[in-house]
Amino acid sequence: MGYRVTIKPSGHQFENEAGETLLESALRSGIAINYHCSSGSCGECHGRLIEGELAEAQFHDYRFSKQQLRDGSLLLCRNRAASDLVISANEINDPASIPLQTIETKVYKIDHPNDEYLILQLRTPRSRTLQFLAGQTVKLIIPELESYSIAVASCPCNGMILQFHINLNHPHPFVQRLSEKEKDVGKIVVEGPFGEHILNVQYDLPIIFIAKDSEFGAIKSLIEQVINLELPQPIRLFWIASDDERHYMENYCRSWCDQLDDYHFKGIKQGDSEDIEGVLAQISDMLNVEKIDYSLSDIYIASPFSDLYRMQKWWQTHADAQNIYLMTENRDRYADKPKDGTVVT
Ligand code: FES
Repeated sequence: MGYRVTIKPSGHQFENEAGETLLESALRSGIAINYHCSSGSCGECHGRLIEGELAEAQFHDYRFSKQQLRDGSLLLCRNRAASDLVISANEINDPASIPLQTIETKVYKIDHPNDEYLILQLRTPRSRTLQFLAGQTVKLIIPELESYSIAVASCPCNGMILQFHINLNHPHPFVQRLSEKEKDVGKIVVEGPFGEHILNVQYDLPIIFIAKDSEFGAIKSLIEQVINLELPQPIRLFWIASDDERHYMENYCRSWCDQLDDYHFKGIKQGDSEDIEGVLAQISDMLNVEKIDYSLSDIYIASPFSDLYRMQKWWQTHADAQNIYLMTENRDRYADKPKDGTVVT
């Protein structure tokens, strides 16, 4: 049986399940808590007990002063609840407040959902996990090669196993080396996180996610966060790809119906001669049928750089959409340039 934990001053709540620390439960529930080592050394996850009882704390190196102990100070990564609790804790509301981290990782797993894409999972040391928010990117670094920027495709609730969706046709040297060496690529350094377009949970606006090709990875992380937070508003996911093979996690997208009350998924094929504006018109027609007001929705677009700004422009001019959040992979010299000649600074 779990205990209910309420965080002051936000009022956020989570269930502390048996066998989990307070930090693990909070992260699993989609609550972004400030932490660093996860092992009781740094003190970054400190909080304070306001009401309730704690189980005996696990050993930790970090030392509180006598005054802090009298005030009920605790480490979320070393404590568990023994009753329902009210605590104070340092929650992260602003991506800029997450420190830049540089972590050496190992390849944990590589999957090939089709000939074109690769799903890479990296494992950090247990005491050096990555703190990030859904929707943020990192740089992946193989020594002597240029760094490769990419969105983290996994949930921030697990900072130790990090997932990335990679298009093997990308000409970036990092991608080419990984494709050649696979698990033998050696150590990969992760630097980050970067990016400010995180999930906006301030209002109960409908959320429309639009992913193109393997940029689906960024959207996957955001939707896993939506599920953890148990957000009640309508959620619509449209995944654009040129054929069914490229909807490489279609069944997984459908399975989210079981976890979200008001969720629909639609995989959309973009024909060779069809431009992206035509596809977006189809999406807006589907939303109109459902009477979802996209001018009053949060729209998250994750696309290769070449189409990103055309997609933004279409929603702004045809749908008067105000809340558009853009995500893309590398904007460096290896990325396809915008097809309409847009100059991006
Ligand atoms: S995260 Fe370092 S002490 Fe808890």
